Amino acid sequence: MPDLERIGVVGCGLMGSGIAEVAARNGLDVIVHEPEQPALDAGRERVRSSLDRAVARGKLSQADADSVLARIRFSTDLDLFADRTFVIEAIVENEAAKVELFGRLDKVVESTDAILASNTSSIPIMKVAMATPRPDHVVGVHFFNPVPVLPLVELVPSLLTSDATEQRARTLVVETLGKSVIRSQDRAGFIVNSLLVPYILAAIRMLDSGFASAEDIDTGMVLGCAHPMGPLHLADLIGLDTIKAIAEAMYDEFKEPLYSPAPFLLRMVDAGLLGRKTGRGFFDYAER
Ligand code: 3HC
Repeated sequence: MPDLERIGVVGCGLMGSGIAEVAARNGLDVIVHEPEQPALDAGRERVRSSLDRAVARGKLSQADADSVLARIRFSTDLDLFADRTFVIEAIVENEAAKVELFGRLDKVVESTDAILASNTSSIPIMKVAMATPRPDHVVGVHFFNPVPVLPLVELVPSLLTSDATEQRARTLVVETLGKSVIRSQDRAGFIVNSLLVPYILAAIRMLDSGFASAEDIDTGMVLGCAHPMGPLHLADLIGLDTIKAIAEAMYDEFKEPLYSPAPFLLRMVDAGLLGRKTGRGFFDYAER
């Protein structure tokens, strides 16, 4: 494996910006891509404010924060990924969009030894691997939000991922990025979302049925079970569109009613009430 991977991150939303930041904070050269300039600018701002927070808390000097930001190139040009050795896709949770992107990445990334990884929350890795002629070099590396804070990465080899690819991805994630790894079979939702999303959907159904208020549901899990945040605040943090997409991918795979997206969730998404990123979800963030 190359001494230092050259990282490409496709998508600079909540997850992509966090992955780019963590890679750059660990000394790696990073290019991050968004097709449109405004989304790229928003991603840069997200990285900058996360670094500012680390500086304010005395975790990072201003000079180090500046050099971390300088190690990340923000670009709308995917062709710059030609020299990348390890690409992590973190675009919208949509199978067709991911399949299309992996086909493009296969053409753009020149090294046949490069790894093409997906940060998908729920879509089986085999689906994107088969969009390339090199499925042995495709693997799932699923980070958790906020990426700079949460130590976990799910490592998801497909049936066709080579042992060498899996080992190289594990080395990057554990030794270079300092994360802890759990290994999941290639099943929609992997380990964590298979447990977490039905719990969030149950909270949404509970709210919808009038069983309890949003505040009381969340307080119950924070004070009664010592969770850092309740399920409805967590849904707002993840994004309700993402929860819907994960639930649909898992329902599609298993046909289990507990994975089916709750109608109230669907209406919230229809209304554009997606959580923190739009200023309102189950709670209001407009004034924060
Ligand atoms: N970016 C960077 N750093 C952040 C951050 C952010 N968005 N939010 C918080 N932090 C850092 C703070 O700087 C602080 O760091 P420090 O302890 O080193 O000083 C630390 O996190 C704690 O932050 P705060 O004191 O401001 O706030 P809280 O103690 O309330 O923690 C939280 C905020 C970290 C978001 C915490 O509430 C939490 O862990 N919530 C649960 C999050 C969770 O479950 N995420 C998983 C979602 S599932 C997922 O991502 C999978 C996907 O597929 C859907």
